[in-house]
Amino acid sequence: MEEKYIGVLCSGGDAPGMNAAIRAVTRSAICNGFKVKGIYRGYEGLIAGEVKELTTETVSNTIQRGGTILKTARSKDFMTEAGRQKAYETLKKEKISALIIIGGNGSLSGAYTFANTYADIVCIGLPGTIDNDLYGTDSTIGYDTALNTIVECVDKIRDTATSHDRIFFVEVMGRDAGFLAQNSAIASGAEAAIIPEDRTDADQLEQFINRGFRKTKNSCIVIVSESQKDGGAMHYAERIKKEYPQYEVRVSILGHLQRGGSPSAFDRILASRLGVGAIQALLEGQRNVLIGIHDNEIVYIPFIEAIKGDKPLDKSLIEVLNELSI
Ligand code: F6P
Repeated sequence: MEEKYIGVLCSGGDAPGMNAAIRAVTRSAICNGFKVKGIYRGYEGLIAGEVKELTTETVSNTIQRGGTILKTARSKDFMTEAGRQKAYETLKKEKISALIIIGGNGSLSGAYTFANTYADIVCIGLPGTIDNDLYGTDSTIGYDTALNTIVECVDKIRDTATSHDRIFFVEVMGRDAGFLAQNSAIASGAEAAIIPEDRTDADQLEQFINRGFRKTKNSCIVIVSESQKDGGAMHYAERIKKEYPQYEVRVSILGHLQRGGSPSAFDRILASRLGVGAIQALLEGQRNVLIGIHDNEIVYIPFIEAIKGDKPLDKSLIEVLNELSI
């Protein structure tokens, strides 16, 4: 009988725990009698034919490593029909009949479009992004690690903010989602978070100034979600400089350090469970689903649902921060 392989790739921004997911997919697949091929550099590598067989040894000593041993990329070519056709040809040539995609929203949207055209390839998604913005799963692989990294940084920034009586605007990642900003603000004892989900007519900067940090504190930390629309931390710092020239203001943009580092225990366990879940889903005949976690149970979310809408942020977290930051 002709041998068939499961392919695995990472796509989009890397996230700590992707290696733990690759390891889990590989070992669980082998345990269940499959063979596995790793596709390098995401959809770009799939189009270019960058494929190698993975064994239990290939994934040894990787669970603790950040980044991804398969490398990753954002592929413009995969957005075109011609690119997807080439990707399909690679899969046929390599005898890969099921593809596991570890990535975020954009990567799963690509998988959804691909799966709709090439029905003989089974696609399964694993949520790999620090942003935690995938609908249907309580957590994404990499989010917990990034959150802890941010908190560690903010703890350090607070030392200098307090010593100088300064206002610090700390910009964190999240694209259009405020999970990292809101929860890192709570965990680091920051005075405010400015997040896309809390966009209202009332000015968020004004609200935080009025909440009275001046009454009790001489320094303060505001975590700001990166945002194309609102201009991010620099924008708010400029405004403070203009409107409240009596305050000393500084900006710290944490940038890509949030994506690096060894994954937390939570992310390693999550990635391991989801990787095993992906193989289980294949065995059950599932296709075109994201493997997620909800209320500590593995769940299957159809791609169309996972990519369609915004994942809601629990608004009570805004109240928690507001009450505790007085
Ligand atoms: O999606 C993950 C993420 O880190 C976002 O939070 C951020 O907006 C984006 O990727 C940055 O992408 P790049 O590394 O391609 O600049």
